[in-house]
Amino acid sequence: MEILNSRNSLEAYVERNREMGKIIGFAPTMGALHAGHISLYEAASHDNDLIISSIFINPTQFNNAEDLLKYPKTLDQDLQKLKDSGYVSAVYLPSEKDLYPNGTASKSYDFGGLDREMEGASRPGHFDGVGTVVEELLRQVQPDHAYFGEKDFQQLAIIRNLVKQTGIPVKIHAVPTMREPGGLAMSSRNLRLTPTQRKEAEIIHQTLLRANEWFRVLTVTEINERVKEIFENTRLKLEYFRIADEDTLKETDFFYKDRNYRAFIVAHAGSVRLIDNMHLD
Ligand code: PAF
Repeated sequence: MEILNSRNSLEAYVERNREMGKIIGFAPTMGALHAGHISLYEAASHDNDLIISSIFINPTQFNNAEDLLKYPKTLDQDLQKLKDSGYVSAVYLPSEKDLYPNGTASKSYDFGGLDREMEGASRPGHFDGVGTVVEELLRQVQPDHAYFGEKDFQQLAIIRNLVKQTGIPVKIHAVPTMREPGGLAMSSRNLRLTPTQRKEAEIIHQTLLRANEWFRVLTVTEINERVKEIFENTRLKLEYFRIADEDTLKETDFFYKDRNYRAFIVAHAGSVRLIDNMHLD
């Protein structure tokens, strides 16, 4: 696996492989890699001749300095995991200057309202930060295919919108959420849970499964009430539960026949903010 420590080394690597007609897959990360990331590379291995990953903890998507400081930094272990996976041909480790040559600031996008829902409302500026770094990475890496996890479903929707509005020629792929045996969605943040919290957090996935059973059986209001009751009997703090239209991400108050819906949860186990979602069918 090649380690590309600068924009110049990345560009030389990409040019060399493009000249050879290689199809390039790309999965960007912020490190603290786990099996969920490996599943992105596994998915990419079906469509591409080679896979590039990147590790960059993007400051502009953190709307709180403490969260950025607390973000796990595990580069040596991450590089080992990438090598051991056997899927990744090269890893790009850009400096802040490589991605933000004109200063570390977000662009301002119009995501058609997708960025005002859920995570956008809770974390102002977050999606402009994600958009800025993903746009720059896609322009530099020039992949044919790029892979993002469904666990961050709103991020995925925003990236699809970004690619459409910028015309960057890349196909975006959604990769299903990887879960721990008890159902907890894999996340770098799980490292900060105590064993008890980890067990208690399984209620998030269980609630999504219940919501799916109640889908089109109960009304949206009834489902919302039942979910609140579930969390009142746990030590987790529910930040929001929302059933939203899968395309617009707008909360629905009624299940229309020809629309697709998804349930979204954010809950706190102590100081750890956990996020999950599930398609309803
Ligand atoms: O999902 C992530 O890890 C990040 O938001 C991403 C897409 C790598 C951008 O920094």
